Amino acid sequence: MTKTLSNETKLKIAELLKPILADQFVLYTKARNYHWNVTGNMFFTLHIKFEELYTELANDIDETAERIRTYGLNAPGTMSEFLKLSGLKEEAEATYPDQFTMAKKISDDYDFIAARLNEVGLKLQKEYGDEITAGKLYSIAERYEKHAWLLKSLQ
Ligand SMILES: [Fe+2]
Repeated sequence: MTKTLSNETKLKIAELLKPILADQFVLYTKARNYHWNVTGNMFFTLHIKFEELYTELANDIDETAERIRTYGLNAPGTMSEFLKLSGLKEEAEATYPDQFTMAKKISDDYDFIAARLNEVGLKLQKEYGDEITAGKLYSIAERYEKHAWLLKSLQ
């Protein structure tokens, strides 16, 4: 059961959520980029899949940002902050990988974020006793692991 969290604990948790928000935003941008620029015999499949993913990510971004606000910090909201905070690399400018590389890169990014979500979730649960936020992170991680598997299966 979640105990009552002090304001100080909530601020520490919000700080841990910032890189997750940044990862989600960088991946959102990459999924949009690939949705627009994918070519090849998997065009229809990937064009539709990338749209599904960025639509889902747009909701996830909002949830993470609003959780940060709920816990008392401002949510980062600029591209420069996202790029600094994220563990992901955005696609190089004017570079459009082939369809399978796009699928692999998105898949790897989902694996990366899922690992971070599980790691932060565990910390929130064990160190801060925030079962509710930990539970949210675990359930997002489960979805992301599935996306990673689906995209990897295209290779
Ligand atoms: Fe579109």
